[in-house]
Amino acid sequence: MTNIILFGPPGAGKGTQAERIRDNYNFLHISTGDVFRYNIKNETELGQRAKSFIDRGELVPDDVTIKMLAGEIEKADDKNGIIFDGFPRTKAQADALDDLLNEQNEKIDALVSLNVDDEILIGRLKERGKTSGRKDDADENVIKNRIQVYYTETEIVKDHYKQQGKLHQVDGVGSVQDITKRLNNVIDQLI
Ligand code: C5P
Ligand code: MG
Repeated sequence: MTNIILFGPPGAGKGTQAERIRDNYNFLHISTGDVFRYNIKNETELGQRAKSFIDRGELVPDDVTIKMLAGEIEKADDKNGIIFDGFPRTKAQADALDDLLNEQNEKIDALVSLNVDDEILIGRLKERGKTSGRKDDADENVIKNRIQVYYTETEIVKDHYKQQGKLHQVDGVGSVQDITKRLNNVIDQLI
């Protein structure tokens, strides 16, 4: 399997591009944000634990998120790989992911970072908020907090994989199609 982390701040285009990669390469797409939102909608215990953090733009505690992720990885059986979208978001999550994959004789092959300036991110998220129905897209303060959390807690994950020689940087500004082409150029070298 080829296992890729699609990385970047909120609004970088991870979800949009991960769906296209999923379809192009027959990967399992794991969006931890989507799994949380599904659980919130269905009022599960997990959803109830996660909701207040997500509504404020904070990170859900690592133990909750890692346990959920471990369950999702098991669905990868018949796939060519996994595309991780929105995970790992902390150094502890990155360590846990490496361990989980290692147990199955798998590994992360690459972290692909989508680079987009903050002003563009804020504009995209405000625009998305008009239709996404997401509380955390509807409030500019929450949007700014999510971007702040990215810089203080999440960006460090890049260094973790850079030290392993697995960091790839892609310009995340442009048309959806152009960005997909840039990503495909990276992924084609990995498979
Ligand atoms: O990835 P996405 O932007 O959809 O995530 C939405 C929210 O879910 C994040 O702002 C955060 O509150 C929560 N989340 C988290 N830890 C993750 C992924 C998502 O706490 N690894
Ligand atoms: Mg997303």
